[in-house]
Amino acid sequence: MSFVALEKLHLLHDGYRKPVSLAGHNLLLLQENGKTILIKNECPHAGAVLTYATCTDNALRCPMHGIQFDLATGNPTTPACTSSLQFLPLIYEGGNVGVELS
Ligand code: FES
Repeated sequence: MSFVALEKLHLLHDGYRKPVSLAGHNLLLLQENGKTILIKNECPHAGAVLTYATCTDNALRCPMHGIQFDLATGNPTTPACTSSLQFLPLIYEGGNVGVELS
């Protein structure tokens, strides 16, 4: 296992967004309400990139069709979509946030 830093902790803030390409996966590091989250940068509804998704009341709104996803659970807030956001675990190490790669 090796740690891969994605961002320095002091650069994170609410509204932060950073698309990351890692091991062939397109991911999105974001922060809202003081919580840093790493998700697949692909809307579970129809695959839109979520880099420019907006966030209101802890729900991420996809820019393509406007479906919102609860950032606590990843679940859609409307029945128009039955799939959830995919979260990836974050690791904090030495003033950075990142992931462990095997
Ligand atoms: S692709 Fe995201 S709401 Fe449809």
